[in-house]
Amino acid sequence: MDPPLKLWRNAQLAPCDASGGRIARGALLTRGARIEWVGEEAALPAATAAEVHDLAGAWVTPALIDCHTHLVFAGNRAPEYAERLRGVSYEQIARAGGGILASVRAVREASEAQLFAESAPRLAALLAEGVTTVEIKSGYGLTLADEAKMLRVARELGRAFPVTVRTTLLAAHTVPPEYRGRADEYIEVIAREWLPALLAEGLVDAVDVFCENIAFSVAQAQRLFSAARALGVAVKIHAEQLTNLGGTLMAARHAALSCDHLEYSGPAEAAALGASGAPVAVLLPVAFYCLAADRKPPVAALRAAGAALAVASDCNPGSAPGASLLTAMSMATRLFGLTSEEALLGVTRHAARALGLAAERGTLAAGAAADFVVWNVRSPDELGYWIGFNPRRTVVRAGEVLRWSNQTS
Ligand code: NIG
Ligand code: FE
Repeated sequence: MDPPLKLWRNAQLAPCDASGGRIARGALLTRGARIEWVGEEAALPAATAAEVHDLAGAWVTPALIDCHTHLVFAGNRAPEYAERLRGVSYEQIARAGGGILASVRAVREASEAQLFAESAPRLAALLAEGVTTVEIKSGYGLTLADEAKMLRVARELGRAFPVTVRTTLLAAHTVPPEYRGRADEYIEVIAREWLPALLAEGLVDAVDVFCENIAFSVAQAQRLFSAARALGVAVKIHAEQLTNLGGTLMAARHAALSCDHLEYSGPAEAAALGASGAPVAVLLPVAFYCLAADRKPPVAALRAAGAALAVASDCNPGSAPGASLLTAMSMATRLFGLTSEEALLGVTRHAARALGLAAERGTLAAGAAADFVVWNVRSPDELGYWIGFNPRRTVVRAGEVLRWSNQTS
């Protein structure tokens, strides 16, 4: 038997679909986990809904999608942050064996249960803001067993919380101590052994690489992409964050899902990302802010080229210690110059595409997931406007209203 039909009426809708339109007096029909119909309430098809929710004129958007996080980690790096405040750079800390490697030591020591317990509050914070889809990367294990441990925790979080988790293998985050001076060999081991093994365990939805002079070269990233493609796995890249190495142009040739960071990219990268079907440009303004970086991604050029711009939290213990996608939206508007409409599309429609989920998430459309947020706002402009204030009213995931322990209605 079909699951019952639910009607969500008397809403203002920001569907975040290709039309870019808004619906002043809208309604949604959902059946089970899917949206069955969306449009003007006046055009509602004749149907008997088992449940009717009057949203009292509130704004509704697709549920938010955080398409770039490293939220599974152990401990934190506040002491490094304090060092950076005294003027030591992120690269200097990394080269001295801190940075990502400091988190690697902590993750290797942590049990799966401890990793889960430390990561769960960060995920809960994202969900409280209306996120129902989150990407979680590995990259602090850097052995087969420890990368598997991180990815299993990510999957476990997806089972324990009302959220869709997409996992990304980021074993190529930095060269682990065991492979010091042998980065090519490390990439070969990931490509030939780890990726196939983790894929067989169902732990990998995509592969990522940190392409940077403190991490991996374009040639090494390309080697990994070829291996991923041979196995039918989607690829993503951390590119042009601290220098311009050419990772974005290579990733565009490999039809990557996304190129992330992009501070040091320029006209050539903008053109490549603006081509049809090109990778999504994922902007990570919290990392820019916390690193006190001085280069911004070329937003005007990306926009002029027609690139799809996504915005993500980058939640990680080093460059972006935060678990607030709404704060990332605020920073994307104020620091990077996105319009409020672009910021909203960046955490919905375009974020879905950055995860290969464009067909089913990130828009209010018939056939899409019945994941949406009802907001306590007078306009969607408020979503990238408040700082440290959460205007979420109700989150609907897979057609069900989520309940928070402090929620009364
Ligand atoms: O996206 N750039 C590389 N990875 C992270 C930082 C990870 C860390 O410092 O632990 C990022 O900014
Ligand atoms: Fe990152």
